[in-house]
Amino acid sequence: MTPSIAYRRLLRVLAGEALSPPPVWLMRQAGRYLPEYRALRAEAGSFLDLCYDPERAAEVTLQPIRRYGFDAAILFSDILVVPDALGQSVRFLEGEGPRLDPIRSASDLGRLRASATRPTFARVFETVARLRQDLPHATTLIGFCGAPWTVATYMVGGRGSPDQADARLWAYQDPRSFQALVDLLSEVSIDYLAGQVDAGADVVQIFDSWAGSLPDGEFARWVVAPTQRIVRALKARHPGLPIIGFPRGAGSRVDDYVAATGVDGVGCDTTIPLAVMADRLSASVTVQGNLDPLLLVAGGTALKERIEEILAAMAGRRFVFNLGHGIVPETPPDNVALLVDLVRGAAPVPRAT
Ligand code: CP3
Repeated sequence: MTPSIAYRRLLRVLAGEALSPPPVWLMRQAGRYLPEYRALRAEAGSFLDLCYDPERAAEVTLQPIRRYGFDAAILFSDILVVPDALGQSVRFLEGEGPRLDPIRSASDLGRLRASATRPTFARVFETVARLRQDLPHATTLIGFCGAPWTVATYMVGGRGSPDQADARLWAYQDPRSFQALVDLLSEVSIDYLAGQVDAGADVVQIFDSWAGSLPDGEFARWVVAPTQRIVRALKARHPGLPIIGFPRGAGSRVDDYVAATGVDGVGCDTTIPLAVMADRLSASVTVQGNLDPLLLVAGGTALKERIEEILAAMAGRRFVFNLGHGIVPETPPDNVALLVDLVRGAAPVPRAT
């Protein structure tokens, strides 16, 4: 066992141990629910300026670690850094989300350049290198990217959409050129994640937030196959690198996804039953999830009971406590502190009356 594995609890679980209490971190643990994030964000200019400023991006990553002492830090960045680096213009509108100049057809693919990504990626790698120096030794550092399918849905739609219709239609009408887009994203994502690992990331997570919108054949082609390719290439370059996949909405296909892609860990969304997470998913994969982010807004007894239920169901299995999707901005920071206390088995500090 290398020394960092012995200290870092998330790495130990991904390498095969079941730990009690389980390691805990939360998707979107840095962000607008934290006043210190809002203050730094106001100084930084645009959201992407913040992502490309290594000093500030590292600081934002560290904010939730200081407050809550999570077992893992996740690089502060965004999945849409990849299309931006490829030369597609990406903007974030206040309160509305991302806007991209949409790519609609084979001829638009010519606007994208894999060779253009280097200077942009270099800034992200610098953030990772700073973080590995500044983080407590016991804190695992997670790098990430969006999965090709999910990133393509934003590139083709030009924004987030409830049904990913533009990307699905292109994939049906001209699968060859859509394959070219997915192949480009797969190649670039391999370089991007490998660079994060070279810079100091211990683990990488692949976010496939819109995996759930595809029927069987398309799920195999656009979700499973590119993820499998990324996992194989990364493991060839970095043997032993732990990789977590998050195929949100995969439902009953989650175990096919695990078996076919070769991920070491799988993020389960809120709809995956605890019985599936506990017993049906292979014992050789680490399961991560799946508290409803809205329970973290609600707080109180409902939050406490569900955390206990999840912990009881996952006892004895390779498990990482997390949410089923990202923290929402309305989350009271005190509820996050309560969650960490409950997961770690500490009696929550009673409030003064
Ligand atoms: O988890 C973390 O703390 C690390 C940072 C992180 C962000 N985005 C920061 C962010 C991560 C891992 C992401 C991933 C991401 N980004 C995903 C996959 C996970 C998921 O939520 O499904 C997706 C689909 C995106 C794309 C994206 N970025 C959208 C749709 C939006 C707008 C909606 C929103 O929540 O604001 C963003 C913006 C974004 N990414 C913010 C943050 C903190 C808010 C921007 C702001 O501060 O104004």
